[in-house]
Amino acid sequence: MEKLTSIKEEGLSQIEACEDLAQLQQLRVLYLGKKGPIQEVMKSMKDLPKEERPAFGQQVNEVKTLFANAIEERRAVLEVAEMEKRIAEEKIDITLSGQKPNLGNAHPLMIVQQEMEDLFIGLGYTVEEGPEVEMDLYNFERANIPKDHPARDMQDTFYINAEELLRTHTTAIQTRQLEKFAQEGKELIKVICPGKVYRRDDDDATHSHQFMQCEGLVVGEHITLSDLKGTLQFLAQKMFGEERVIRFRPSYFQFTEPSVEVDVSCHVCGGKGCPVCKGTGWIEILGAGMVHPNVLSMAGYDAEKLSGFAFGIGIERVAMLKYGITDIRNFYTNDIRFLKTFNRFE
Ligand code: PHE
Repeated sequence: MEKLTSIKEEGLSQIEACEDLAQLQQLRVLYLGKKGPIQEVMKSMKDLPKEERPAFGQQVNEVKTLFANAIEERRAVLEVAEMEKRIAEEKIDITLSGQKPNLGNAHPLMIVQQEMEDLFIGLGYTVEEGPEVEMDLYNFERANIPKDHPARDMQDTFYINAEELLRTHTTAIQTRQLEKFAQEGKELIKVICPGKVYRRDDDDATHSHQFMQCEGLVVGEHITLSDLKGTLQFLAQKMFGEERVIRFRPSYFQFTEPSVEVDVSCHVCGGKGCPVCKGTGWIEILGAGMVHPNVLSMAGYDAEKLSGFAFGIGIERVAMLKYGITDIRNFYTNDIRFLKTFNRFE
């Protein structure tokens, strides 16, 4: 009996003093479970004279009920306290001014690429892509640049092995798509092919070993140089302003014949001459020409029947001109202050 009383006192004071719910659960296990001090006392019941056992048993049960009630009461108190603490902690002060989420924005190169895509999609073109690790076959040979041809020197190349390289121009997408379209029996093709290209150049203000181009390709019956001119005139006006005019200068690419270099009248001075156009009034923006018959026939087309034009435009170059950026490296160093200036939503 004495032992029971001391267990009772000890237990009740522990329950009273208990400060958290986990600890309370431990006390419950201890006093009401199978292996606690109360069970110990119960075991000693067999040593009592028979007539005292019921009274003792009753006492034990009373203590147990007492504990159970005390634990429940304590639990209720602790639960309320815990809830209050959480409410206090999680209180939201709605009078504080909100925090603006830090939104990203499109990269300037993506802005220009998307503008071009929209423009040409509006003319009925589709957008095609291709692998950046490309076969020599599509990057060079199908572009009418055989192995060991000196024209390969025009594009310093990252070779992976004898057959694979990092594509040096989006013309690789063009030759790939041409082959596919020929196999599908398509006789009218209007595509643009934007993407990253790579050249073994030393990086400086105007060169980058990785940059972006967008290729345009139209093949069909009776496609002529004047179709090319009209298309590029439209492109120049949409990208640089309605007053722009273009001019063709003779040039050379293996995969086009004739080939041209295309200049746009300067969007800064309007053609009078300024530092941006180096006083000439003209800015060179792209290379183009009529698809070489060899390119068409290597892809599987009848070059007697179909003809086409192609052009390749540098996306960085357009972005630099449009936004007055003087160093191409800005596009790739990911300075957040630079990139944020293209946020059209702030
Ligand atoms: N592939 C050429 C270059 O990278 C550009 C070009 C594309 C020229 C299509 C003509 C026709 O310089």
